[in-house]
Amino acid sequence: MLILGIDTSCDDTAAAVVEDGNKIISNIVSSQDEIHKKYGGIVPELASRRHTELIIPVVNEAMQRAGVDFPDISAISVSYGPGLIGSLLVGVCFSKALSFVRNIPLVAVNHLEGHIFSIFLEAKPEFPFIALVVSGGHTSIYRVNGFGDYSELGRTRDDAAGEAFDKVAKLLGFGYPGGPVIDAIALKGNRKAVNFPKSLLREGLDFSFSGLKTAVMNHIRTSDEIKKEDIAASFQDSVVEILTIKALEAAQANGIKRIILSGGVSANSALRASIKEKAAEAGLEVYLPSVRLCTDNAAMIASAGYHHFINGRMADYTLNPKAYLPL
Ligand code: KG4
Ligand code: ZN
Repeated sequence: MLILGIDTSCDDTAAAVVEDGNKIISNIVSSQDEIHKKYGGIVPELASRRHTELIIPVVNEAMQRAGVDFPDISAISVSYGPGLIGSLLVGVCFSKALSFVRNIPLVAVNHLEGHIFSIFLEAKPEFPFIALVVSGGHTSIYRVNGFGDYSELGRTRDDAAGEAFDKVAKLLGFGYPGGPVIDAIALKGNRKAVNFPKSLLREGLDFSFSGLKTAVMNHIRTSDEIKKEDIAASFQDSVVEILTIKALEAAQANGIKRIILSGGVSANSALRASIKEKAAEAGLEVYLPSVRLCTDNAAMIASAGYHHFINGRMADYTLNPKAYLPL
């Protein structure tokens, strides 16, 4: 069974064809990084305008690469939130129109659920598991009991982890997105050079990253001489330790043996190494999607959509995007 996935929740226009929820047939992501780079962050209006230009070519390319035509598609799965409202609107309106014109059932997926489902494109973790979703817009920990059965155990009280990476990169004069740049620069720095705060480290499963960002800003302002690679490495070290400790704590407190990571920040090489090491020490299993499936893509939306579809959970044409949409 083939599902066409569509994601326009943020600044990537993405379409993918996935078979039976776990086999990627095609996966196209058209990045807008070049457009937003000079602003040091995403400009929502520019993102939605670009989605309108890219949505048809990106969907066509996903179909062509898969070597399929619309009669072969069993359902269209679109992410309808959370995200930037103008961006989401493009994907949702396009999907509704395509569903209507081609008479293909429509399925609505929460973008965060998509991130969790990215792991099923490469592995088959048993339920229940702990999911750490760390992206540019979200940082949350969920207990996942089964398909569609999630409970949030903790969330950020202010900035998302990816947002902190992007803001610190901007302070250091690096481009957008900041995560991959900091990841690369940090390799050349000393992660113990600056002792940045680790907010809420031992205080439950909520996160807070805005104090850390402010501490980096103050350090840059008050230091006579700064070494960017040391600041990048020290900042990253704080984020990695917080994320690792909380993910492990969630698993141990819930008596769960498996942790999955997802979202753009889970592409971070230091985080991947840290969580693998600490989980092994604690006797826990860790599932990491490959880097291309950590960041936004539509294969994960098709994967989640497949499970909605086979369980009869279809959307109708009253579907509207939602900027705020808890899982
Ligand atoms: O999941 P994603 O593509 O989009 C959202 O749903 O937000 O995540 C994008 C975020 C950005 O903040 C980006 O800086 C961060 O993921 N990111 C990384 C890395 N690659 C992407 N953060 C740290 N290290 C990386 N290697
Ligand atoms: Zn995302």
